[in-house]
Parts: sequence; C-alpha cells; structure tokens
Amino acid sequence: MTATPIRPKQDQKHEVKDLSLAPLGKQRIEWAGREMPVLRQIRDRFAQEKPFQGIRLVACCHVTTETAHLAIALKAGGADALLIASNPLSTQDDVAASLVSDHDIPVFAIKGEDNATYNRHVRIALDHRPNIIIDDGSDVVATLLQERKEQIADLIGTTEETTTGIVRLRAMFRDGVLTFPAVNVNDADTKHFFDNRYGTGQSTLDGIIRATNILLAGKTIVVAGYGWCGKGTALRARGMGANVIVTEINPVRAIEAIMDGFRVMPMEQAAPEGDLFVTVTGNKHVIRAEHFAAMKDGAIVCNSGHFDIEIDLKALEAEATEVKDVRNFTQQYCLKSGKSIVVLGEGRLINLAAAEGHPSAVMDMSFANQALACEYLVKNRGKLAAGLHSIPVELDQEIARLKLQAMGITMDTLTSDQIEYMNSWTSGT
Ligand code: ADE
Repeated sequence: MTATPIRPKQDQKHEVKDLSLAPLGKQRIEWAGREMPVLRQIRDRFAQEKPFQGIRLVACCHVTTETAHLAIALKAGGADALLIASNPLSTQDDVAASLVSDHDIPVFAIKGEDNATYNRHVRIALDHRPNIIIDDGSDVVATLLQERKEQIADLIGTTEETTTGIVRLRAMFRDGVLTFPAVNVNDADTKHFFDNRYGTGQSTLDGIIRATNILLAGKTIVVAGYGWCGKGTALRARGMGANVIVTEINPVRAIEAIMDGFRVMPMEQAAPEGDLFVTVTGNKHVIRAEHFAAMKDGAIVCNSGHFDIEIDLKALEAEATEVKDVRNFTQQYCLKSGKSIVVLGEGRLINLAAAEGHPSAVMDMSFANQALACEYLVKNRGKLAAGLHSIPVELDQEIARLKLQAMGITMDTLTSDQIEYMNSWTSGT
C-alpha cells in the first residue's frame, strides 16, 4: 500500500500544559513500569525487530503513565507515533510533558482542555496521516470517516480499546462505512476480564474517594449497568461495606447481579434509596430529570462510562439555582426544590478525572494486547477483511502466560492421557 500524501504532515510538535513537569512525569512513568512486565518484554522485542519501521501511528488514549509505556514500546518498534487524549479530563500533564521531553513523542493533550481543543487535537492526529489508529472510544476513526474519507487509503487498520468504541465500530460496519480492518482489543480475555472488571472497580472507587473523601461503609450505592465495568464496581463497593443496588436493562445480567447477591430494581425505584450513584452503561441519560427529582438531598452522582452523556446534566442544570465548586472535581447543584445534588468530575469518567485510571498491573495486559494488535495488523497488511476482528486466541493466551510468568506463578499442564481424553468422543459413562 502506498501512502498518498494528502495533506502536509503538521509541523507543530506538541501541545502540553507545561514541559517543566517532565521530571515528575518521568519518575511516575518509571514507577508504573514496575507493574508492566508483559509490555516491557514486548517493547524489548520490538526494539530488536522494529515491526513498525515506516509506519505512522496515532494513539488516541487517556494520557497516563500506562499509556506512556505503550507509546514508548511502539516508538521502540520504529513507529512514527503521535499521541492525543481520548478524554478532555483524563490527561496527566506531567506524563504528557515527559513523553515530549524525554522520549521525543509528539503529544497533544492538556488536562481540562475544552471540547473545541479536544476536537482540534483529533484533527491534528489525522494530519499525521496515520497508517494505524489506536482508538479509545472511536473518535478518531469516526472523524476520519466523516471528514477525511480520502485518508482511508493510508490506513492499514485500527485497534479499539473500549466497549463504547466497539459499539460505534459495529454501527459503522452495519452502515457499510467501515471499509478497513478494526481489531477488537476490548474483547480479548486478557483485556476485559481484568481491565474492565478489576481496573474499573478499583479506580472508580479511588476516584470517588479522592474527590469526596466519603466513607463507603454503610452507604447505599446504586451501580447502573452490570457489564464487566459494573460488575467490578459493584464487587468493590460491596467490599468496602456498601449496600449495593444494581440497575440493568438486560435480563441475563439482571439475574447475574441477583445471584451475585445484589438487589436489582429500576432506577426510578433506586433513586430515592441511593446515597451515591455510579453509571457504567455506555448509554445516554441513564440518570435524568425524574431520577434527580426523586433523589435524597445531598445524593452524589458520578459516571465511569466512556462518554459524559450517562448523566443528563442539562436536565440538572435546568433545575439548579446555583452550582458551587465544593472540592476538586466535586460540584454541588442547589436546586429550586431546596435540595442539592452533588456531581463528580463533571459527569466524565470519574476514575480518570479524579484518580489515575486503572492500575498499571491491568493496563499491562490491555496495552500488551494493543501492541500485539498493531503488530498483527502490520503482519497481515492487505490480507484482513474490512470489519471487526478478534485478537487471535494464541496472542491472548500468550499474554496471560507472560503475565503469570512475571508473577512467578506456574500452572498444571495436561498429561498425554488427558489430552487424548479431551480429544475423544468414544469414552463416556
Ligand atoms: N483507561 C482506564 N485506565 C487507564 C489508564 N490507566 N491508562 C490508559 N487508559 C486507561
């Protein structure tokens, strides 16, 4: 495939908050690296084999210490990589500074950037004329399809990190516009079992606690959505002593939540009971006007789903007489009714807005999947059909094996007798 120069590559090297933050970022990136042995091994191999030589790559990810290790691994593999934020509130400014100063990786991301800046950075990423796009939420791919269709010719493919992005890619495929391969990193077992469940579970509570410093024991916490992220959040909230209510629209997941020991009810019924509400559904307006109206005075609401649309903040604003900043990432909406409702992190991902996102130990596997998915795209350039592709099961298993090895854990292996038994259908009762 020849990459046609469509627009000149943009000259600007970076847009970060403050390059003098680089030493702090460097130190924190090094700390995260202690928990990322799998990605480290992949980086070392990439440095030898240079699978991305001549490849222009854009990563639209939360700019964290963990993403730094992914970007460094891709660059070690020869990629001409550029990084932008996948959310206006999730960037760690010191990390962005260190990537620019210490690793010469162009970064366009500032914590608290407005939507216009965020959208401008997406266009800057496209100006890089990527051959590979690593997306988290599918904003870069969606923009390319709407505004830069001619750049499809440059693309080897894309990889997608999160459930919301996969939902969007499926809609693109259904509408016939996804005309290149997209690797579904989210659905790898070594991704969603750990990142979505234990990562979201821990980091969501971390964000809530950092923002509010409230005691969770004895509180009634309503978790909206019982996908992997909801399961992790509910599990960890219970572990902290909260009474957890789950809301769901999927009957199977509702049964799962019940059998996991949670109460399940509609949001309308949960609204007056909850002290704290966490949305993790991927859908819009899961908490809306009628729910705010039924909530207790002082109820706290936050979101840990990808986009800031799960809580209908416009409806809350319409009822508010005043909005006060009461702590970092904590705003109190005083309502005409005399009640107040507290919103955390402006309804954006609370785990990344008020805390640091998922811990490195799970991102190690998520980003090992991303790194290997990019290599898979390059190795199979021109051979993969348009549409969504799973991570090959051998890669998923290899990541798990490397993780176990790094943890110093060994497992059983099948005896030849067992292998024979598992492959036969003649031996029964
Ligand atoms: N998504 C959730 N947590 C993350 C992290 N720590 N780094 C990058 N992306 C994330």
